[in-house]
Amino acid sequence: MKGISYGQKVKGRCGRSRFYFRASSQGFQNCPNAEVLAVCDIVPSRAEQRAKEFNIPNCFTSIDELLSIKEIDAVSICTPNIDHKRSTIKALQAGKHVLCEKPIAMNAREAQAMIDAAHKAKKKLMIALHNRFFSRTEYLKGLIEAGHLGKPYYARSLSIRRRGVPSWGVFGQKKLQGGGPLIDIGVHIIDLTWYLMGCPKPVSVSGQTYETIGATPGHVGEFGPWDYKTYDVEDFAVALVRFANGATMMIESAFCVNLDKEVFGCHVVGDKGGATLMPLENLVELRLELGGHIMDCQPRHFPADDNPYDKEIAAFVDAIIKNKPVPVPATEAIWTSKIIDGIYKSAKVGKEVPLK
Ligand SMILES: NC(=O)c1ccc[n+]([C@@H]2O[C@H](COP(=O)([O-])OP(=O)(O)OC[C@H]3O[C@@H](n4cnc5c(N)ncnc54)[C@H](O)[C@@H]3O)[C@@H](O)[C@H]2O)c1
Repeated sequence: MKGISYGQKVKGRCGRSRFYFRASSQGFQNCPNAEVLAVCDIVPSRAEQRAKEFNIPNCFTSIDELLSIKEIDAVSICTPNIDHKRSTIKALQAGKHVLCEKPIAMNAREAQAMIDAAHKAKKKLMIALHNRFFSRTEYLKGLIEAGHLGKPYYARSLSIRRRGVPSWGVFGQKKLQGGGPLIDIGVHIIDLTWYLMGCPKPVSVSGQTYETIGATPGHVGEFGPWDYKTYDVEDFAVALVRFANGATMMIESAFCVNLDKEVFGCHVVGDKGGATLMPLENLVELRLELGGHIMDCQPRHFPADDNPYDKEIAAFVDAIIKNKPVPVPATEAIWTSKIIDGIYKSAKVGKEVPLK
């Protein structure tokens, strides 16, 4: 691929965010088939800093300037959620392929507009759901596809922080973010769980959200103090999703909740076996029945330098070069958006809602 450019991700104010910025930025530079030609951020000093740090030849404060560079084949959108739809559609209309950060958009309606734009422009639109690219995920997906767990019929999707409200960015502001933990961290694990279950069609959801901690002063925060005055998203959400094939998924997602510990991962249950995947703990555990005993097994020897960001970006670039489907198409990512929209709607109306 001749050129690639990406929207700026600012260096965050905590270790976790810095890690994400470096990981995704470096992914393009580590990819032998990509060249980073430009960076754009509406804050000039951030654009300049990134251009300098990553030796990028062009730096802009408007995406229009960036999109006018003919050699650019693809754009990576790393702006806050409220801008995903706008910048993605602009890039697609300018004839560029797009890798857009998760969540795909503020809601499924926006996501559909992005999908329609990609279809019209005949360009690729992939969503950056990197948890699908951990070696442990790839291994477990292969096992499930080969039938080793039988038919997956139940799953738990858990993205729970006890006091993990981000102290940077706009993660606590519904109008800029679209929602709270569900749309920020939940989206990763709901997609991962659904993907491992074989992408069944969701038909309804019953959910509840709770606002008890984040908007009140005087709480400790794992990432430092957050702005409780602008915080208007849910602290904690719980839901049950029903699928057309009879399977169900329980979801728990929290920025702050009085539970025992952080959990970020999923359990998938089939009639022959079950599995637990905790990507950040490098854990896959299989629940089998063997030789008259129930058994928990942990596969070993995954690569020590497993880097899902590099793999995600390499797969995006490869799909462009070889003109094949992207591995995480927007047409799949929109289902997580529909589930999340459904949870918010169900919480509002106080009953189960259908999904289309
Ligand atoms: N894949 C992951 O694991 C992961 C991790 C962190 C963040 N994210 C996603 O990345 C996105 C950004 O998150 P963040 O933590 O980096 O947010 P942030 O607010 O720290 O940074 C966003 C940057 O975008 C710039 N910006 C805003 N509007 C712009 C526009 N119209 N054009 C150009 N630049 C613009 C801002 O000035 C800022 O520098 C979010 O959608 C978030 O969900 C993904």
